[in-house]
This record gives sequence, C-alpha cells and structure tokens, in this order.
Amino acid sequence: MNDLAALLARQLQRELPRLPSIARARMTDAGRASRWGTIAELREGARRALPRMIFDFVDGAAGDEVTAGANERDLRAIRLRPRMLVDVSDVTLSTSVLGRQIAVPLLGAPMGLCGLLHPRGEIALARALHAVGSIYVLGAMASHSMEAVSEQTQGPLWFQMYLWRDRGLVAELLARSANCGHEALVLTVDVPRAAARDRDRRNGFGFPPRLSARTLAEGAMHPRWASRFARDPRIEFANVAGRDGGGVDPVSASTYINSQFDPTVTWNDLAWFREQWRGPIVVKGVLDVEDARSAVRVGAEAICVSNHGGRQLDHAPSTISVLAPIVDAVSGEAEVYLDGGIRRGSDVVKALALGARACLAGRPLAYGLGAAGESGARRAVQILVDELANTLALAGMPSVGGLDASDVILPGSGSQGSANRLV
Ligand SMILES: Cc1cc2nc3c(=O)[nH]c(=O)nc-3n(C[C@H](O)[C@H](O)[C@H](O)COP(=O)(O)O)c2cc1C
Repeated sequence: MNDLAALLARQLQRELPRLPSIARARMTDAGRASRWGTIAELREGARRALPRMIFDFVDGAAGDEVTAGANERDLRAIRLRPRMLVDVSDVTLSTSVLGRQIAVPLLGAPMGLCGLLHPRGEIALARALHAVGSIYVLGAMASHSMEAVSEQTQGPLWFQMYLWRDRGLVAELLARSANCGHEALVLTVDVPRAAARDRDRRNGFGFPPRLSARTLAEGAMHPRWASRFARDPRIEFANVAGRDGGGVDPVSASTYINSQFDPTVTWNDLAWFREQWRGPIVVKGVLDVEDARSAVRVGAEAICVSNHGGRQLDHAPSTISVLAPIVDAVSGEAEVYLDGGIRRGSDVVKALALGARACLAGRPLAYGLGAAGESGARRAVQILVDELANTLALAGMPSVGGLDASDVILPGSGSQGSANRLV
C-alpha cells in the first residue's frame, strides 16, 4: 500500500507542472477532440454536448430506423481477406473522382442546417475535408450561403441540389454555384416528399426550433451549445433566405422550402438539369440497377448509391448490399460512390473492394461538429483516414486502387469473390 502511495505521489509530482495545460486542454474544443479515438466516441461526445432534439435530428432516421441500422450492420458483417508478407511500407490512399485528384477516398456528404450543431456549420465541415485533401459536398439546405462557404474555405466543393418545383429558384442557385466554382452538381433524387422521422416528431423538432419550456431546460443542461446558439442562431436556409415567397424569417422560409419538394419529377426532368449545368452531374440516392442505368442515360457522370442514411424510405436495402450489381451495370460509363453507415476506415475498404470509387460520410462529421466544432469535425475525418490506412496495411493491401471483390468475404460464404451474395 505504501509502495502504491509512493508511486502515485511520484507520478503526481511529475505531472504537477503540466496540470494547467491538461486542464486547459479539457476546456478547449481541440483538447476535447484529441481525446476521442473512434466515431462511436465522437457520437457519445455529441450526445452529451447537444440538446436531445438536435442530437436526434442528426442521429435519427425514418420510421423504425431499420434501413439506417442495416447500413452499419451489413458493412460490419463483411470480412476482409488479409494477405501476409506484402510490402505495406507505403500505403496509397489517393484516388480521383470526376478527374480531380483527392488524397483520400472519402468525401463529406451534404447535410442541411449544420449550423444547428455549431454556428460554423458547413464552413467547419468543408475545412475538415480540405485539411485531408478531399472534397466537401455543400447542401442546398445549408445554414451558410454558398458564397460564405467559398470565401472562408480553400479547397474543392461540390454542390448538392434537390429537384425543386420552382425552376427559377433552381436555375438561380445553379448559376450561383457555377460562380462559386463548384466542380460538380449532386442531384438528390430520393426526396419526392419529406419522410416521417419519429424521433423528430416526438421531440417536437421543427423549423425553426420552437422555444418551449423543454427547449429552455435542455439549453440549460447544455450551456456551451446554448450560449453559442444564443449568440449566433443559425436556423435559416441561407441559400434561399430573403427569396421572393420565401420571406426572410425562418418560418416562412421553411414553409417555402417544404413546398418545394416535387412529387411529379421523373427521370425525364433530369434533361433540364443537364442543360442548366455544364460540369459533371452526380445522381445521389440510387439503390436499383435500372435506376442506375437511367441516370447514365440522362447524362450523369457518377452515381451515389445512397438511401439518405436511412432518413427517407425505411426498409430500403442497405447501400453496401446493392453496390456490386450497380457497379457492374454502369461499369465504364459512370463512377459509383457509396454512403450510409461508414463508421470505420475498414468500412471504406469494404465499399471500395465491392466497386465504389469513393465513400461519403454524413453523421460521423456531424457528430464531430456537434461534439467539438471544427476540431471535432477534423478529428472525425482524421479518425476515418487513420483507420483506413491501418486497415490496408494490416490486411496487406497497399493501395486503394488495387482493391477488388477478392479482398472481402461476404456473409454466408466461406470464400471470397464476386459470386457471393450479401443479402
Ligand atoms: C443531419 C443530416 C442532414 C442531411 N441533409 C441532407 C441534404 O440536405 N441533402 C442530401 O442529399 N442528403 C442529406 N443527408 C444525407 C447525407 O447526405 C448522407 O446520404 C447520409 O448522411 C449518409 O449516411 P451516414 O450518415 O450514415 O454517413 C443528411 C444527413 C444527415 C445526417
């Protein structure tokens, strides 16, 4: 016992001069972020830092959240087929998307209203992706205007748009996007109407967030978030704020945006977008081989296999389960990306092995942003990149470009190869 006390005393003596900096590190975003080592830990950090209503807006999904769960579960169920005694002293993570070289095969998925998590919102997320040499996809429903994001960031951006009813508004946004130098247009096709998200309904989450006694109590329990929010309440869709019919106040703007989702749109309408946008088009939200072929037919250069993170149609298949046939169907005609459920670097390896050129991450970035602002977002990206490099080295796979279906073992099959079925 005495020995133990002496040991502790010696340790304390050594650490005493460092205590102020340790304490400081725990008080700052950068210090807190450095202590989280996995996306699951960042998620927990976000859960603690954010009012429940905001955390659930990010973490939740449609219906019973079956599809959201399947995205993660089906990725986890795939095994890697490691090879030993391969020279992995140099692990290559770089690739290209739509002709642009990127240092890592991971992009930032578009997410609306990230300013609810932290006032720096999409600006912080874009900077986190740029810090690792990749691309951020800015959503039309962002809480910062595209001009502000361009001014305050220095790397490549893509712009995500919906097939809104008001084509005048869409044309105007596309012209602004081209002016901002966005390198590709991502058209999200899985929102003919907004899905029912039960957590949001139960929490009374709406736009703008209503101040009820419960909201105030939640704010008091999350003072850091509340003081930031009070100083800079980012509750508007900045790209359309002040627009005719949209009004400048958040209530009429959100009513306006909700009325914009157009259930009449079909594949034929994509021709109009093709005429409006000179650069490459990515169709996001494809889960079916025939739809992938339709996207190519209307002139898309790339497809993002996505179910909106399970936030639209519940009971849709997980994205990894439909990836390989879609890659086969459009092979040589369009690049294919995947999002949904990427929580580990090994998930990226699996998606790339099954034919994706790159992955997009949504919630991991949002957790980081909510937990510790830009430092947290950077941490989220770095965690995934470090895990990716580690996985490749340990599996004897020295380059993301060399991955193929023989590098994974699908569930239910004892052997590797594309003959295996996932579902
Ligand atoms: C809070 C939040 C907001 C989102 N907003 C949009 C959006 O405005 N447009 C869009 O195309 N997708 C949106 N998504 C879907 C993401 O782009 C992406 O498809 C999804 O998050 C990927 O799944 P993951 O969160 O498991 O990585 C959103 C996702 C989240 C979590």
